Amino acid sequence: MFAAAAAASEGAQPLAACGVLVAGMGGSGIAGRLAQALAERCGGLRVRAWNDYGLPAWADGSEQLIAVSYSGNTAETLSGVERAIELGCNWEAITTGGRLAALAAQHGARATAVEPGHQPRAALPLLLVPLLRRLPIAGIAAQLAEAGEVLGAAGDNGSPAGDSDAASPTAIAAQLAGKLPFIYGAGGLATVAYRWRCQIAENAKQLAMHHALPEMDHNEIVGWGAPPPNAIVVALREPNESLAVAARWEATRAAAWRDVTVVECRARGESPLARWLSLVHLGDMVSVELAHLNGVEPTPVAVIEELKRRLEE
Ligand code: F6R
Repeated sequence: MFAAAAAASEGAQPLAACGVLVAGMGGSGIAGRLAQALAERCGGLRVRAWNDYGLPAWADGSEQLIAVSYSGNTAETLSGVERAIELGCNWEAITTGGRLAALAAQHGARATAVEPGHQPRAALPLLLVPLLRRLPIAGIAAQLAEAGEVLGAAGDNGSPAGDSDAASPTAIAAQLAGKLPFIYGAGGLATVAYRWRCQIAENAKQLAMHHALPEMDHNEIVGWGAPPPNAIVVALREPNESLAVAARWEATRAAAWRDVTVVECRARGESPLARWLSLVHLGDMVSVELAHLNGVEPTPVAVIEELKRRLEE
């Protein structure tokens, strides 16, 4: 899917560097969160992910808005576009259609058409790649190319070539079954930890928690004095972490996780994007394996649909 998305969006021109708001919810919203994290890590422009109704109160019309909604019918994202129209912001859409595509056509806004027929959360590459192609984040073209190679080498079961069986999605899922996973990452991997949490909830129908290092060392760590009996930690880590981050992982483990299993997952690749997406992919595969172990279908999210229906009534 990543390679198809890269080919489909090859000609896209990056926007002139400026502040960009990326609105979207859930499986579509994660694309903006990853873009924000990547811009924070690499520079090039300011990106702010927005996962709520309307736009931030400080928006004054000078921002560029990119509205990402797979269905094109998500109320919060549509209300952000309505606010952008009121403010006179430049805006554009990435969507399969729905009311968002109709609004874009009505207002002459750019709309990137996305292949329909998937669950939004399963279509992340189809949303993320065209989004990143529009953002002049430093080194983005090379990062996208490397991410494609790393994901292409991952194989269908998500196991990176050469990795031990212990690091396979099946083995990790077996450790998480029946547990309450607490997933952590530093920097951009905190966003990846959030993706793991959401995928475990939606695909495996199982609760999970997430937090960021170093922030958790200043608050949540205290709660580890009395953890739930079925808690398990997943540590998402990059190769060549800074000494400060590596020392923090070790100190946190010694201070808080002495009596709990810690499953360590290492990112692959060189660039931040490739590394983060290698762990997004692993988490996605783990969540599907976990669904099988939990005896549930990964695809349907009946309660989300019921909620949307209730709100529309
Ligand atoms: C469904 C999913 C949800 C949706 C969210 C927003 O797979 O993951 O989180 O992504 O309800 O809907 P869209 O993506 O259509 O704007």
